[in-house]
Amino acid sequence: MLREKRAQDIEKVLAKYPPERRRSAVMPLLYIAQEEYGYCTPEAIREVAEIIGCDPTEVKSIVGFYTMFYEQPVGKYVIDVCDDLPCALRGADRFVSHCEKKLGIRVGETTPDGKFTLNTVMCIAACDRAPVLQINKQYRYALDEQTFDRMIDELP
Ligand code: FES
Repeated sequence: MLREKRAQDIEKVLAKYPPERRRSAVMPLLYIAQEEYGYCTPEAIREVAEIIGCDPTEVKSIVGFYTMFYEQPVGKYVIDVCDDLPCALRGADRFVSHCEKKLGIRVGETTPDGKFTLNTVMCIAACDRAPVLQINKQYRYALDEQTFDRMIDELP
């Protein structure tokens, strides 16, 4: 159980909120749950809801709303490519097609070896350096097909 496995981390998060505002800790707790389970499993959602004292449906709605929470298992590396308008004007659509071809999967899929998941996301606030992506939340800027291929080939 999350409460046993990550007790210290959970307490550290909860200490930042007054007891009557525990519900506000939902997102940092979901990050802990996701780190622990790999994605926000139904069990993780139930446990977080129990910790903050709310209905699991409310926690699930947060998981469903934010793209940084995963409802399904994901790869070791999650690649989120921005294809919002400013990035699209700098060739994001063509770039995403290249990513799909290089990885051999479509957007929303995970490679059969479980190494990569490819997603497209709305603006990640780096429009001036498009095309841009995040890989496990680390930004990579001003990409082209060659730099993407090199990045993929160099990942362990
Ligand atoms: S539109 Fe892509 S980072 Fe803003």
